[in-house]
Amino acid sequence: MTGDSRPAGCPLRSAQWYGEQDRNGYIHRAWMRRGVPADAFDGRPQIAIANTAAGFTPCNAHLDELSASVSNGVYEAGGIPVDLPVVSLGETNVRPTAMLWRNMAAMAIEEMLRANPIDAVVLLGGCDKTIPSLTMAAASVDLPAVVVPGGPMLTGHFRGAPLGCGTDVWRLGEEVRAGTLSQEDFSASESAMIRSKGHCNTMGTASTMALVTEALGFIPRGVAGTPAPDARLLQASHEAGRLVVDMITQDRRPSTFLTKASFHNAIVALAAIGGSSNAVVHLLALAGRLGIEVSIDDFDRIGSRVPLLVNLQPAGKHLMDDLFRAGGLRAVLREVRDLLDPEALTVDGRPLVEGLEDAAIWDTEVIAPFDTPVQAEAGLVVVRGNLAPDGALVKPSAASPRLLNHRGRAVVFDSIEDFHSRVDDPDLDIDADSVMILRGCGPKGYPGMPEVSNMPLPRKLLEQGVRDMVRICDGRMSGTAYGTVVLHVSPEAAAGGPLAKVRTGDWVILDVENRLLAVDIADEELNAREPSPAAVAAFANPKRGWERLYVDHVQQAHTGADLDFLVGSSGSEVSRESH
Ligand code: FES
Repeated sequence: MTGDSRPAGCPLRSAQWYGEQDRNGYIHRAWMRRGVPADAFDGRPQIAIANTAAGFTPCNAHLDELSASVSNGVYEAGGIPVDLPVVSLGETNVRPTAMLWRNMAAMAIEEMLRANPIDAVVLLGGCDKTIPSLTMAAASVDLPAVVVPGGPMLTGHFRGAPLGCGTDVWRLGEEVRAGTLSQEDFSASESAMIRSKGHCNTMGTASTMALVTEALGFIPRGVAGTPAPDARLLQASHEAGRLVVDMITQDRRPSTFLTKASFHNAIVALAAIGGSSNAVVHLLALAGRLGIEVSIDDFDRIGSRVPLLVNLQPAGKHLMDDLFRAGGLRAVLREVRDLLDPEALTVDGRPLVEGLEDAAIWDTEVIAPFDTPVQAEAGLVVVRGNLAPDGALVKPSAASPRLLNHRGRAVVFDSIEDFHSRVDDPDLDIDADSVMILRGCGPKGYPGMPEVSNMPLPRKLLEQGVRDMVRICDGRMSGTAYGTVVLHVSPEAAAGGPLAKVRTGDWVILDVENRLLAVDIADEELNAREPSPAAVAAFANPKRGWERLYVDHVQQAHTGADLDFLVGSSGSEVSRESH
């Protein structure tokens, strides 16, 4: 194939670099040749493989293997694959929190896609923030783009029982603190948890974002959730290379197949799989890049009544390779097909719902049929009130039902450091009915909105057998975590939110059925209070660099926590150059 792959009357973008016979064309071609035949620049599409493989992102370290298969598919379809290593975020390594860097990664990827002679891009991600940053960037540039997710790791076992990567870390950690598991056994389980290449195998954020991104239409059907070591993922990568070349021919860009209907389907899928609450900030940010009106209330309106069909940790029992074996996302979508928008398209140009009749559940213990769900109404719920005027999230499927309607006395912590210094104090005035509140953990306050909302319970209560309490925070929660946690409180304390004014001893009301989160005092009294000086003193005040830019421009959780100047599209047009 040559330049025939371009849409009629629409020259390839890379022709602006390679198509001229002048000095600039010479420079662009000559420096890229290095053994590449001249006809690589005769109008063949140049395909970037945006690859988040990195040693410090162990969940993505195998993506170079997928990249090789993508390259084969691109070559086969007549394109020229070009490596584009991009900013990568390893969730377990990056300090202070990977979320601080999501927007930076998205901005850097967006600018590199714009700056280089690229006609289309294959996006390789896996670990939590990598698929969101890749898709946000691709949406803003709006070149043909397809995502290939790196896939979950295989299930590890310890002493005959499966270990859920992430969720069991929380559980085992609590057992050590409660004195029911020895430090030696805890340490011994460490080498068993990460059994293979791939990302976390619970329904954490990485698994959620892969599955939801396929439901959105950005990943070829049936690919998300394929375990990382499975040979079918290499095949899917090869086919994605072919597909992206075809997308150029069809001029199929994110703006042509991602619509409000796509987000509707993503929200239905998020609820049916019991996905991570982190998906909310990522989907809202992506919608903002595309200029599609999606609000936090859409997650409640569309998703809260959707039954939970997938029995995976942290809400349930199984792990991602069980889900794949049981039929995967397509089997889940088949069960909720009457709730899906049939108009929504995908990267292949066909509706998401097309072919769902061929999907089947092979193990109803892992994927429950619609009529006998794991839980009847399990999607995310948005609560509001004088503690969260712009909303906060509750994930009922990870909560204790008895605590979803609760009135308790607040025990307030002004920062995560304050929490750690006092939570295990035997003299801390707290009991099982108390409501633990942690502030200063929002996008601006920390900064970066860390996953600290599922505060560990006080040791003295754990020793009494308490395993869950109502916890409220303006931060996020790991998708692998569980508990009755009210999170993403917006506005956050550091942005003038009333969370900064609540005091230890106030009575707090959580009423999920009535969507209420309130402190039980008159609004006039709450408004008249000053923010806690200790909380204000703990808010981040970075002096330079990305953190300064971030704090000055990050938006609140209820709109996706993107930077205000990154919302929307930049497009792919870059007309100036300096040669
Ligand atoms: Fe990378 Fe969980 S730490 S996916």
